[in-house]
Amino acid sequence: MRRKLAAGNWKMNGTTEALQELSALQATHSDPNVDILICPPATLIAAAAQTCQGGPVMIGGQDSHEKSDGAHTGDISAAMLRDAGAKAVILGHSERRAGHHETSEDVRAKARTAQAAGLMTVICLGESLGQREATNTLDIIGAQLSLSVPDSSTGENLVVAYEPIWAIGSGMTPTADQIGEVHDFIRTRLESRFGPGVGRSVRLLYGGSVKPDNAAEIFSISNVDGALVGGASLTNADFSPIIEALEKA
Ligand code: 13P
Repeated sequence: MRRKLAAGNWKMNGTTEALQELSALQATHSDPNVDILICPPATLIAAAAQTCQGGPVMIGGQDSHEKSDGAHTGDISAAMLRDAGAKAVILGHSERRAGHHETSEDVRAKARTAQAAGLMTVICLGESLGQREATNTLDIIGAQLSLSVPDSSTGENLVVAYEPIWAIGSGMTPTADQIGEVHDFIRTRLESRFGPGVGRSVRLLYGGSVKPDNAAEIFSISNVDGALVGGASLTNADFSPIIEALEKA
């Protein structure tokens, strides 16, 4: 059985006062039957890990470099994330693919290094609206999946997040059939590449405008093991009902 995972991506939001939201989240979910991951900005990781120490909330980074150290101004290594208390890292988010020209090959190299450093990697895939309208979405997702996921992946160190670019921050979500089609496809591909044991143990998250009012429906879709949530993960008031919907799913 795969453990469910509610993951929050704070993106470039939050200063020290946002740690109050983490304390509230810890207090609300003292014994969850789902895993909870919050990925705050890098400046808050150490303090967030401290705040969440001994509790149910795991802390993660939003990116890490493919090299383990060296002359890479402004970048963060996987070992640095670990050292700060992170247990996971988001890699290949569409905002980094677009804004930092990251290719799937870059994402794979980063993921290999992060997994070797002991981090759980949350690898993001997703098509643009133009791609969905012009081509076969499954071809896009299939190519991103095979190129972005390293051979070193296991059920413990890999989570795949399907985040259609057009659904991120837009209030638009795909239909349940559209989400199910992509998630079933990712599951089948993982099973054929890694074998049924590993392929069935990798958790698949949906991301893109997940809110308290649509979470239950999304979590009822086959092969959706949780969500990667942006805006609605910033406050305990919004994120807690999403976690509760996942606990009930
Ligand atoms: P929103 O939930 O704000 O649409 O963001 C989704 C996302 O990009 C999470 O990584």
